[in-house]
Amino acid sequence: MRDAHHVTVMTGAGVSAESGIPTFRDAMEGLWARFDPMQLATPEAFAANPELVTRWYDHRRMMCAACDPNPAHETLTHMQRVFTSSGCRFTLITQNVDRLHQRAGSDPVIELHGSLFMWRCTGCGRSTEQTGVAFETYPPTCEACGGCLRPGVVWFHEMLPEEAIGAAQQAAGACDVFLSIGTSSMVYPAAGLVGAAHTRGARTAEINRDETPISGSVDWHLRGAAGRILPALAESLSDSPKDF
Ligand code: APR
Repeated sequence: MRDAHHVTVMTGAGVSAESGIPTFRDAMEGLWARFDPMQLATPEAFAANPELVTRWYDHRRMMCAACDPNPAHETLTHMQRVFTSSGCRFTLITQNVDRLHQRAGSDPVIELHGSLFMWRCTGCGRSTEQTGVAFETYPPTCEACGGCLRPGVVWFHEMLPEEAIGAAQQAAGACDVFLSIGTSSMVYPAAGLVGAAHTRGARTAEINRDETPISGSVDWHLRGAAGRILPALAESLSDSPKDF
């Protein structure tokens, strides 16, 4: 990393776990262990029961708004600033929809799966930022046309935002170091980015509490909590020319 000209980082739900936000696939506490994603996180589910789906996503929005960034987010913000100020490109990509990277000060952030805080009208297509209190009625309605609002997240069976996945693929192909942090590496195309980086000659590392499908193919598998390993990684860089 000290000699890198371009560092690309991709994060998943594990980065927000220490902020109190449940991941998706953790055996006991994961969202998909407690809820059926096909009943909540698909366009078909929304069409069948817009009240249930919007109520669930708005509940998650309010829960995320009540959580705070943890040392993993804060360290990535610090890294983005230090690498950028020393002339090294630093691209932060996330699958998370909780906006904690932005609240920690990271900017820009490529949101592959959208955000709980952006809602879109299914009638007129208007997108609005929702950062205040919970909606009063479900499904919420568009102030402009009265249409039904949906969360601005990517559901299963949906395409990722073209601009986001394009920028992420470009950054994966151009970087010389790729870090995959806190993701089970099971959902594509996000999970394919580390392979794209490796193919183009980047050194790859994974920070994860557990083994994942990429643990055996990355150059370094750093086992443990992101909130502990990332500050230690930044500390280990602190004697580098970049003033960490
Ligand atoms: N530090 C590091 N890794 C952690 C921590 C932690 N504190 N806590 C959990 N993990 C790891 C888990 O071991 C797991 O490998 O983070 C990963 C979280 O995996 P998932 O719950 O599958 O979340 P994610 O990889 O982000 O899911 C990808 O799937 O359902 C879709 O759209 C959803 O964006 C999500 C996508």
